[in-house]
Amino acid sequence: MPAPAAALYTDHLATLHERTAIALDRGGFEHLVVPSGTPHYQLFDDRDYPYAVNPQFKHWLPLTRHPGSWLVVTPGATPKLVYLQPRDYWHVVPEAPNGDWTAHFEIVVVRKPEEALQHLPKNASRCAILGEAQSALGQYGAFKPNNPQPVLEYLEYQRAYKTPYEIAMMREANRIGARAHRAAERAFRAGASEFGIHLAYCQAAGQDANELPYGNIVALNEHGAVLHYTELGRAPPRPARSFLIDAGASHRGYASDITRTHAADTGGEFQALVDAVDAAQRRMCDQVRAGVDYRQLHLDAHLALAGILRDAGIIRVSPEEALATGVSGAFFPHGIGHGIGLQVHDVAGFAASDHGGTLAKPDGHPYLRLTRTLEPGFVVTIEPGLYFIDMLLDELKAAGRGASVDWDRVDAFRPFGGIRIEDNVACTDGDPLNLTRDAFAAAA
Ligand code: GLY
Ligand code: MN
Ligand code: MN
Repeated sequence: MPAPAAALYTDHLATLHERTAIALDRGGFEHLVVPSGTPHYQLFDDRDYPYAVNPQFKHWLPLTRHPGSWLVVTPGATPKLVYLQPRDYWHVVPEAPNGDWTAHFEIVVVRKPEEALQHLPKNASRCAILGEAQSALGQYGAFKPNNPQPVLEYLEYQRAYKTPYEIAMMREANRIGARAHRAAERAFRAGASEFGIHLAYCQAAGQDANELPYGNIVALNEHGAVLHYTELGRAPPRPARSFLIDAGASHRGYASDITRTHAADTGGEFQALVDAVDAAQRRMCDQVRAGVDYRQLHLDAHLALAGILRDAGIIRVSPEEALATGVSGAFFPHGIGHGIGLQVHDVAGFAASDHGGTLAKPDGHPYLRLTRTLEPGFVVTIEPGLYFIDMLLDELKAAGRGASVDWDRVDAFRPFGGIRIEDNVACTDGDPLNLTRDAFAAAA
């Protein structure tokens, strides 16, 4: 780690120590114990699924490929890492602990999963153990995760407040993603298939599909209307009219989540619609400010997108009427975004407080993933979209709203699928930081 990042990491750990002391106090525990997780096996098979580290573990440590390790945090003491480095000639095993982070931990290397238990605190009942209830390898012993609610509620609520270290990691995840998005656009313009574009993306990111924070959405033409289209078609359509790519990158356990939409004909009507969504999306990103209720941002996005639909002649009603009657929802059927960090859809999006409680979603908006009021340190996605989804348009007709839509205009845009533009934006006590736009500007 370069020196500034090392200093940020030191401060990050200090913040986690403070939070952990409060969380343990709330639950009446002495130690926080966090297993990194274990592999999971496919049914009736000896093949394991790609390993995904416990997010509670990678919050402390930039280690994402270390199943069978344990972290122990005791207020006032150096945190302990029980580090599994098995003797195994079948697989590449984790290398001996190295890197700046090692200075912050007391590290014990064990060679077998079950040996870890003897290095955990003496009394398991004094431990808040955060992990999966079931271990595939059965080596939890007395340290079966108990996931105490008050501890989890506190830590997960606080996770929305990113430390400067975390924002630096997410900046890098965006930088990698922006570089790969550029390569993907070049592949699209060169006539590649969805699969070919995906490979170009992975190559430029230097990340395999399992290392990416979520499965790439690479959608040509009508496929853009499938919100989570992950088919990766092997043959390019002729002609390829449009390209929607929703793809992120990982860096030291942190995610980026980026979407861009491109038109093959950069002088046509679809490009004009993309440009209008892009301009509106920039204005929405500028609203990522302390004190803004994210629910309001979502509702405002409906009005802005409905205005674009009306200006394009696709709907015939005012933005307010479109929102009230569900017309805007037929074209924009997902939330404006979500928190992001260690997980692409970060935890505690609906948490009313660090003592629990739920902040409701607006009526009629079931897919919004974040209902909290923005505060400095929050990092959220802003991802408005417009899609031509037959199922939802049919439902709109069935609900008696057919007259609100110009169906000839829908027919003209349907072959392009849809548009989504998504950035990762950090809230500060001043202007927002758009990690994604900054990364694209630097990659230009
Ligand atoms: N890539 C999934 C999402 O945008 O939420
Ligand atoms: Mn997203
Ligand atoms: Mn996305």
